[in-house]
Amino acid sequence: MVDCVNKKMIIDVLFIGFLGLTSVLSQVPPFTEKCESGLYPPDSNWSIPTYVVNLDLPGEERWTEVMKDRGPQIRHLLSMFKQFIRDFGNRTEKIIKFVDTNGEKMVSTLPYADEMRGIANATGLPLGEVVFYNVFYELFTFCTSIVAQDSSGKLFHARNLDFGLFLGWDVKTDSWTITEALRHTIVNIDFRRNNKTVFKSVHFAGYLGVLTGVKPGVFTLTMNERFNIDGGFMGVIEWILGDHSGQWMGFLTRQTLENSHSFEEAKKNLTNTKMLAPAYFILGGTKPGEGCVITRARESAVDVWCMNSSMWYILETNYDHWQKPLFLDDRRTPAHKCMNTLTQKKVSVAGIFDVLSSKPVLNKLTTYTALMQVDSGHLETWIQACEEPCFPW
Ligand SMILES: *[C@@H]1O[C@H](CO)[C@@H](O)[C@H](O)[C@H]1NC(C)=O
Ligand SMILES: *[C@@H]1O[C@H](CO)[C@@H](O)[C@H](O)[C@H]1NC(C)=O
Ligand SMILES: *[C@@H]1O[C@H](CO)[C@@H](O)[C@H](O)[C@H]1NC(C)=O
Ligand SMILES: *[C@@H]1O[C@H](CO)[C@@H](O)[C@H](O)[C@H]1NC(C)=O
Ligand SMILES: *[C@@H]1O[C@H](CO)[C@@H](O)[C@H](O)[C@H]1NC(C)=O
Repeated sequence: MVDCVNKKMIIDVLFIGFLGLTSVLSQVPPFTEKCESGLYPPDSNWSIPTYVVNLDLPGEERWTEVMKDRGPQIRHLLSMFKQFIRDFGNRTEKIIKFVDTNGEKMVSTLPYADEMRGIANATGLPLGEVVFYNVFYELFTFCTSIVAQDSSGKLFHARNLDFGLFLGWDVKTDSWTITEALRHTIVNIDFRRNNKTVFKSVHFAGYLGVLTGVKPGVFTLTMNERFNIDGGFMGVIEWILGDHSGQWMGFLTRQTLENSHSFEEAKKNLTNTKMLAPAYFILGGTKPGEGCVITRARESAVDVWCMNSSMWYILETNYDHWQKPLFLDDRRTPAHKCMNTLTQKKVSVAGIFDVLSSKPVLNKLTTYTALMQVDSGHLETWIQACEEPCFPW
């Protein structure tokens, strides 16, 4: 019975996705692929503020300051998410009701339950909706991640975070509504214990998992969505309905940043821990050649692809590296082209920012570009927006 609901929902979602694609495809505007240069640094109003989250505080109190500034934006986003879910029809209304009335039951199985309670308290949202808000990020992140090595062997790790495909097209502003709302919630977090940085990461405020993070002097990590019919939706819905055997991706990455003390230890944890949904983990270390793309199924990795002696960078979007990307969404080929135009000599924060600002690596769904350097523990994040004409449609 449960199984049947899940499959039906997946089919609904795929069907609506398909309709969305075909209806907009008829209006794809032409845009020229061009490798950008000299765009760094952008004007300072595109930069992202950093907040300290003190891990020595009880979970309920850790996010108070962030919530004071970003609470209204979270409420706004959540109302849009719910509308999106409702648009799928009656069946989904039941899920929303279930979520609203079972918050405590769901949250008690999660590693950051107290933090979610604190966020619910600070924003006035039902606890179940805070859980739900967190689930959403596990499903809709399209991205490009790059680990690159300069001529001296120093490693840089950068990513674009693209979010919101199919989540609502705002006809008035010609941009994806949720993507636009998300840009206003981005924050850098410096997680500290004993007033010392444990790791730094980029968050959509209120999302407690980590999609982009650096553990200074140890490793850098990004997560990209991997689509698979047995994957995301199924796992998340099973979890909501009570099967709590798999880890959420964003919590696995956060706990790995907290608890792994080496590149190898992180790699092992990201390769073997059972998860709710498939994913790509892009992991960078501190030594030349330490750059890997871990392709995950729910149970464990199906492939671990690492830099070899003839590679100076490794790059992942949202498709298995041994397969061609979806023809509509090939950000991989342009990204390779721009990396090769850049050359290893020019690998730097500025150089990689240019690559990630080149269309269609940069697209209408891009919310931010984050740039990390592991040795110094550097993390900087810039809001991104793509000027017309820009993919997708
Ligand atoms: C920064 O300022 C420029 C011009 O003043 C404006 O066009 C742009 O939208 C601003 N960026 C953000 C992220 O608000
Ligand atoms: C909720 O927040 C208020 C302050 O806004 C605080 O006094 C109260 O202790 C908090 N409750 C919990 C359970 O954290
Ligand atoms: C934490 O460290 C910063 C400098 O890194 C210092 O300015 C601040 O006073 C310290 N805070 C506490 C509570 O020790
Ligand atoms: C590995 O991941 C699990 C699940 O998120 C976490 O509990 C554990 O602390 C992690 N261990 C290391 C060494 O990172
Ligand atoms: C390195 O990896 C690339 C791509 O995976 C492959 O084409 C190449 O043959 C490898 N080179 C060496 C020296 O192993």
